[in-house]
Amino acid sequence: MSGNTLAKQLAGARAAELVQDGMVIGLGTGSTALWTIRRLGERVRQEGLRVTAVPTSEETRVIAAKEGILLTTLDDVPQLDLAIDGADEVDRGGCLIKGGGGALLREKLVASAAREFVVVADETKLVATLGRFALPVEIVPFAWTFTARRVAATGCSPRRRETMDGAFVTDNGNYILDCDYGVIAEPAKLHAELKLLPGVVETGLFIDMAAAAIVSDGKTSDRIEF
Ligand code: A5P
Repeated sequence: MSGNTLAKQLAGARAAELVQDGMVIGLGTGSTALWTIRRLGERVRQEGLRVTAVPTSEETRVIAAKEGILLTTLDDVPQLDLAIDGADEVDRGGCLIKGGGGALLREKLVASAAREFVVVADETKLVATLGRFALPVEIVPFAWTFTARRVAATGCSPRRRETMDGAFVTDNGNYILDCDYGVIAEPAKLHAELKLLPGVVETGLFIDMAAAAIVSDGKTSDRIEF
C-alpha cells in the first residue's frame, strides 16, 4: 500500500471511531471517506453499532449498503449528528476545496445538515492558501458555454470535466467546471461572486463549515480543530 493510501486509511478509519451508537451521520465520497465507511461497516458487524447514514453520492450509497450500513435521506432526517468527508484542499482556517469526485453539491447539503462536520485527509491536502487544486463548480448543462464565459470573468480558465464518453455528469445531472485560479486569496468573496451567476448551482468552496480535520502522514494521525 502506498504511503498516501495508508494515510487516507488511517485518517478515514480514525474518524469512524467518532461515531456513537444511535447516531445519524453523513457519509462522504472519495478514496479517504471510503475507509471511514469500511471501518464503520466493521463496527456494525463486530460491535453491533447502530448507525444510520445519509450518503453524499450514488457511489457512497452503494458502498455503504454493501457494508450493511442503514441508509436514510435528508428528507426523512433533516438534522445529522455528524458528517465525515474528504477534501481536495484544507487551509489553516478550515476552509476547503471539495468536488474532485464531482459530489460537491450533495456533500455540501449533507455537511450543512450536521451538528459537526469532520474532514478526513492525507497531509498533502493541507495548504497555506487554497487554489492549487482547480476549483470544481457545478453548473446546469443548459447554455453551459455561456455560464463558463461568465465564470471565466471571475479570474480563471474553466475546463468542463470530461470522461472517455463525453462530459462528466454529476449525480444531479449537471456539469462540472474545473476552475484554475492559481491562488484564491478571498474564498468567501469568490464563492459569493460565483453563486450569483445564473447557471451556477454550487461551488466546491466549503467556508466555515468544518469543525475539525483528521489528517495523517501514513504513520500517525492528528486532529486539527478549526
Ligand atoms: C468528492 O466530490 C470530493 O469532494 C472528495 O471528498 C474529495 O475529492 C477528496 O477525495 P479523496 O479522498 O479521494 O482524495
